[in-house]
Amino acid sequence: MAFALAGPADLAAIVAIEARSFPFPWPPEFFLAEFGQPHSTTIVARPAVGEDHQIIGYLIFWTLFDEMHILNLAVHPSYRRRGVARQLFTEAIRRARSRGCQTAWLEVRPSNEAARQLYQSLGFQLLMTRKRYYDDTGEDALILTRQL
Ligand SMILES: CC(C)(COP(=O)(O)OP(=O)(O)OC[C@H]1O[C@@H](n2cnc3c(N)ncnc32)[C@H](O)[C@@H]1OP(=O)(O)O)[C@@H](O)C(=O)NCCC(=O)NCCS
Repeated sequence: MAFALAGPADLAAIVAIEARSFPFPWPPEFFLAEFGQPHSTTIVARPAVGEDHQIIGYLIFWTLFDEMHILNLAVHPSYRRRGVARQLFTEAIRRARSRGCQTAWLEVRPSNEAARQLYQSLGFQLLMTRKRYYDDTGEDALILTRQL
């Protein structure tokens, strides 16, 4: 697996994965806005060899003082359960640590079993529940955190 910082040239590939990953996908403008923020990092994963070296996953995080906030993560459906998300996290955490981050946090929907299992396997723990956090479905958000 190869990792790189993403930019506008990667937008189409990211948006295509986003559309296949979420019932309420981020519009392209959201990703473009992230590319322009100094506190925001978008990492993309590609297979090390072959298949046109296309993007197969991405992770977006902010570093704010000593906190890392994970905003978005998705892996192309054809490449799931191969450790791509786990490796994206390893790469993102390495970068966040090098910027002085000591804790990480994220939000997840209670219904997202795959993501919850992933975060549990990565050592995230429940910090609190935000009631009716998601505008689209009215679902609560679980706020998970871990030390880096
Ligand atoms: C959640 C998601 C990013 C996981 O990506 P992935 O590359 O398939 O995850 P990995 O292969 O790195 O899995 C690592 C671990 O997470 C857990 N996990 C991942 N997917 C799982 C699933 N569908 N069911 C149960 N556990 C799962 C397992 O513990 C897994 O380890 P294992 O394969 O050795 O059992 C992917 O399913 C996805 O893109 N989903 C749609 C978008 C999304 O929900 N993003 C997160 C928003 S909070």
